[in-house]
Amino acid sequence: MKTPAYLYHGTQSLVARLEPRPARGADAANDRLCGVYASQERKYAMAFGLPIVPDERGGLAWSLDYVQRIPRIAIHAGLLDMTRVGYLYRVRADTFVPLGDLQWVSYVPVVPQDYEVIDPAECVQWIAARRTSRRPGHADGLRHRRRAVASPVLAPRRTARRIDFGRLWRRVTAQFRLTEKSPHGPDHWRRVERMGLRLATRTQADVAVVRLFAVFHDCRRVNDARDDGHGARGADFAASLRGRLFDVPDETFERLRVACTLHTDGFHHEDPTIGTCWDADRLDLGRVGVVPDPRFMSTDAGRQMALDLAGRAGRRSAHVGHDAGATWLREYGAF
Ligand SMILES: [Fe+2]
Ligand SMILES: [Fe+2]
Repeated sequence: MKTPAYLYHGTQSLVARLEPRPARGADAANDRLCGVYASQERKYAMAFGLPIVPDERGGLAWSLDYVQRIPRIAIHAGLLDMTRVGYLYRVRADTFVPLGDLQWVSYVPVVPQDYEVIDPAECVQWIAARRTSRRPGHADGLRHRRRAVASPVLAPRRTARRIDFGRLWRRVTAQFRLTEKSPHGPDHWRRVERMGLRLATRTQADVAVVRLFAVFHDCRRVNDARDDGHGARGADFAASLRGRLFDVPDETFERLRVACTLHTDGFHHEDPTIGTCWDADRLDLGRVGVVPDPRFMSTDAGRQMALDLAGRAGRRSAHVGHDAGATWLREYGAF
């Protein structure tokens, strides 16, 4: 088989390096191998990144058929969690060997080239309805017969309707007034989204708000210095697109509005979703040479991440000292 340049790997975790591990997949014989699994087929790999989670009894079992390049997933126990996202990594194929028509394996760790977010709402058509059998009781006068009943396989999405983030990003990026190289531009938004999603796996933040915050919070800046009110303008812009390019319930939008409006004011917030948004933004201060300060994080996960970053920066940072708070706020206010 000719080795493609790139392969795809789907998983529920956001990581910097993919480690070999025994995997559950469609081919039982090969699943005993300990490796990083990947496929040249994008949708096949995506199926493994879907957030299928245990049911209330802890049961988790699903199987996959791949017919005419479309995944068909039967969930025998567990649920597709519509409040979470998965990740599809693109990896260089150099270290992979083929395991069959669809699967490849690397026995050494793999550093991904890039990744994209898998929204389960875009894949629900791959999920087969689960069918169970039930016998109706005698009292209804019906004859005994086996009757197939569909049982739910989707966990509810907290923020209701699906959001087309690709379309939203195109619209928001098109109106951004600063240059492509701006430290507050789309590259920064992507890093905030990535960090926010990573934190959300520990903070239980609403991922829709985290992703909306990432794209809106700096989108209405008019300069790269101190720009008072840019968060509120971002929130107003989000409000103007709500109902046209995306829709969320009032309570969800209120979280987004607060997160955008107050994101430069150095506050903490006890709401895990708003706290996650702010931590994700502040954790990207490394782009302007400022080491994130754990004291300005709202969530435990954010604090831990800031400590890790500060540890890596070590004594090189002039901003982690006795006056770190004041310096940090001054820098943060400007950026
Ligand atoms: Fe900002
Ligand atoms: Fe920002």
